[in-house]
Amino acid sequence: MNISGVILAAGQGTRMKSPLPKVLHNVLGSPMINYAQEAISDLKNKYVVVGHQYKTVTVNLFESFIPILQEEQLGTGHAISILLESSEYKNDENEYLVVIPGDVPLIKKEDLQKLIDDVVQEKAAIGIITAFVDNPYGYGRIVKNNDEFEKIVEETDASESEKQINEINSGIYCIEKTFLEKNIGSLETTNIQKEFYLTDLINIAFQNKLGRVIVQVNEDSIQGVNSMSQLNDVENTLRKQLIESHMENGVYFQDPSSTYIDKSVHIEAGAKILANCHLTGKTIIDKDCVIGPNSIINDSKIGEGSVIQFSVIDEAVIKSNGMIGPYAHLRKGSNLDENVKVGAFAETKNSKIGKGSKVPHLAYVGDAELEEDVNFSAGAITVNYDGKEKHKTEIKKNAFVGSDTMLVAPVTIGEGAMVGAGSVITKDVPPGALGIERNDQKNIEGYMDRKNKKEKK
Ligand code: UD1
Ligand code: CA
Repeated sequence: MNISGVILAAGQGTRMKSPLPKVLHNVLGSPMINYAQEAISDLKNKYVVVGHQYKTVTVNLFESFIPILQEEQLGTGHAISILLESSEYKNDENEYLVVIPGDVPLIKKEDLQKLIDDVVQEKAAIGIITAFVDNPYGYGRIVKNNDEFEKIVEETDASESEKQINEINSGIYCIEKTFLEKNIGSLETTNIQKEFYLTDLINIAFQNKLGRVIVQVNEDSIQGVNSMSQLNDVENTLRKQLIESHMENGVYFQDPSSTYIDKSVHIEAGAKILANCHLTGKTIIDKDCVIGPNSIINDSKIGEGSVIQFSVIDEAVIKSNGMIGPYAHLRKGSNLDENVKVGAFAETKNSKIGKGSKVPHLAYVGDAELEEDVNFSAGAITVNYDGKEKHKTEIKKNAFVGSDTMLVAPVTIGEGAMVGAGSVITKDVPPGALGIERNDQKNIEGYMDRKNKKEKK
């Protein structure tokens, strides 16, 4: 069966009150239009009708989707006529056209397949997906006459009794090609909005006694996004579904209601996600990790058995058994080998940290390479930036960097060397040596007694 698909995405989305085109608003980290594109990805030829901010929308399309420009948006029926007249569509040899709106991200592939199957099987002219909803306000209503599907009436055109109907049009259709091409030209703008309604095709089919098919689905899968509030509703629905599917795969969630996960995140069975975590981008969480509470992880790989508490991690890699936080910040390019600890108020950036090394508290490691079993004590920092350029710090294995030291890069601390606490290190420390930079301590005997006596006078 040769079936083409089109996504309608030319509208302005006025009710969003946002400068971003509606279909580019993110839902679980992916633009809304990606859900529509994924839903019809298996169809042969795929088009997107674009209009409002079409350049911005077009650059965000998948490669196999052909943009069709509808310069003036005169209604959903007009959008389809623009497609049919376009040179891109001209040689399309489809038998059916699937039409979906760009603003219905909950749409399910299996519902679309059922729609297609039913239309084909019943040799219908047109099929649509509908749902029964508690609050039908704003949607087109499914009007039936003695059980015959007669027409769709828009909210603005509906009579009081039609407004009571709570079966609504999802805006998702499968239309037989010859019926579509024959009748698209006869749509009229005789309605309150003075638009060409694609939905009027139902009444045309009814009057010509051609088959009309209805596939009823759950309200949840056709929720449209017309406002920020509906965007939030849809995102919450998808979020619940996503966390539910992670739980089915064996991931533990302490509090799904405070957990935010992008669709693109991968979590292995056996991981535990505690309350209030945000996992985004291409993050991968391996088995036996305990993440949270209160952590943000973006585009990072967290290896097996790692524990992350109250921390922020961005574009970092942890091999396995990392102990991170509380209150650590792993920035872009942090690459931690097995059994590394980065503890309280420590920050790392563009640095390799070797197996078993520790940065336990109050430290900054930037543009550095720490080999195995390095101890980077409290208050130690790499002075990596001279105001113009970044420089590298190298710390060889088993080195011990004492507390409150500054390693002024470029500098190398040799294998097994020690840096004395409080030092400002500007020269390399050879292997096994002690590097110390400190004034001699002076103790003034009896000082406090004399001070106290003076104050009493
Ligand atoms: C439409 C349906 C309504 C259905 C609802 C489901 C019509 C007349 N009404 O109403 O029955 O219940 O969807 O959400 O079809 N678009 C274009 N070009 C245009 C006009 C619209 O591409 O000229 C696109 C929009 O960007 C949007 C989709 O078509 O993605 C639907 O348009 P919208 O204005 O949101 O229609 P609704 O009033 O929601
Ligand atoms: Ca809509």
